[in-house]
Amino acid sequence: MENLQQLENDLLQQIQTAADIKSLEEARVSALGKKGIITEKMKNLGSLSLEEKIAAGKMLNVLKTTIEKAIDNKKAELETLELNRKLSTERIDVTLPIRPENQGRIHPVSKIYEEVAAIFGQMGFDVAEGPDIEDQFHNFNALNMPANHPARQMQDTFYIANPDSTDFDDSFVVRTHTSGIQIRTMEVKKPPIRIIAPGRTYRSDFDATHTPMFHQVEGLVVDKTTNMAHLKGCLYDFVKAFFEVDDIKVRYRPSYFPFTEPSAEMDIGCRKGKGELKIGEGDDWLEILGCGMVHPKVLQAGGIDPDEYQGFAFGMGIDRLAMLKYGIPDLRTFFESDLRWLKHYGFVPLDTSSMTGGLSNNGGLAR
Ligand code: DAH
Repeated sequence: MENLQQLENDLLQQIQTAADIKSLEEARVSALGKKGIITEKMKNLGSLSLEEKIAAGKMLNVLKTTIEKAIDNKKAELETLELNRKLSTERIDVTLPIRPENQGRIHPVSKIYEEVAAIFGQMGFDVAEGPDIEDQFHNFNALNMPANHPARQMQDTFYIANPDSTDFDDSFVVRTHTSGIQIRTMEVKKPPIRIIAPGRTYRSDFDATHTPMFHQVEGLVVDKTTNMAHLKGCLYDFVKAFFEVDDIKVRYRPSYFPFTEPSAEMDIGCRKGKGELKIGEGDDWLEILGCGMVHPKVLQAGGIDPDEYQGFAFGMGIDRLAMLKYGIPDLRTFFESDLRWLKHYGFVPLDTSSMTGGLSNNGGLAR
C-alpha cells in the first residue's frame, strides 16, 4: 500500500503544478482516463482474492475521490486566474472618447426628422409610414386629383410600368408627395386621428433647391370638431418650437391644393439680407408649408364620413427646413455623400433631439 501513498503524492504534485487548464486535463487523463493509472489499478482488482479486493478497492476509491477533488479545486483556481487575467488585459474604458477619425455624423435630414417627430410627438401625434412606390389611387385619385386633373401636371411625376397591365392608369408612381399616407392612415384607423408621416418623395426636377429625390413630412388631424383655429394653433406652436424662437410672426395666404378646402400657405417672419437669414426678426416673409382643411372627398376616399368628421392637413419639405435652420445653401450637396460635407453639417449621434433636453442641442449651429 505504500506505493499507493506514493502514487497519491505524485498525482497531487502533478495537479498542483499544472500551469493551465490543458496540463491539468493531461494530469486527469493520465490518472482517471480510460487508460489512466487509477483506472488500470481498478481493472486489476479482478485478479485478487475477495478479501484483498475489498481492502484494495476501498483504498482505490478513496484515492480516486481525493484526486477528483484536487482536480476540481485546481480547475476552479485556474479558471479564476484566467478570468482575472482577461479582466485586467481586455478591459475597455467606455468613458474614453471615440477617435475623431472614427466618429460618424447624423445627416441634417435625419436630424430634422428627429426634431419634427419630437415636437409633434409631444403634441400627441403618431408617426405613420407608407410605400415609396405608390399606386395612382393613393398618390392622386383619392386626394381629389382624378386622371387628367391639371394638378397632376404640377408634379413632375416618375411613372413605373405595371407588369400586369398596359393601361396607363394602372401604372405605379414613385410618390410625388407624402399626402397619400393620409389616405392609407384613414383606411386603417378610425378618428380621432393625429399623425405625421415623414418620407422620401420624388419628382423630375434638378437645381440648387430641387433634387429628384427629396423629403417631406405630412400631417393629418381628423376629429368631430377639428377646425382651422386648431390648424393655426398647432402649426404656430410647431414653428416656434422648431426654429427655437419664442417670438415669431406667422401669416396664412390663401392657396390651392386639390385635397384641402380652404387651402393656405404659411409664411414666417424673417429678415433676409447680406447672405444671411434671421428667423423671427425683420419684415420679410418666408414660405414654410402648405396646409388646409381636408376636402370632404378625401375623407370619403379614406372611408370616413365627412358629415360626421372634419380635419386639417399640412405638408412641408424636410430638406428645405434643414437648409433654412442650418444655413445650407445648396440642396444637391445633401445627396453627394461627401464626408467632408457631413463632418461640417452633420450632428453628433449621442445628441438626440427632445423637447425637454433641447432640440438642435447646439442652438441651431451646425458643426
Ligand atoms: N402635398 C403637397 C405638396 O407636395 C403639400 C401639402 C400641401 C400637403 C397642403 C398637405 C396640404 O397635406 O394640406 O406640395
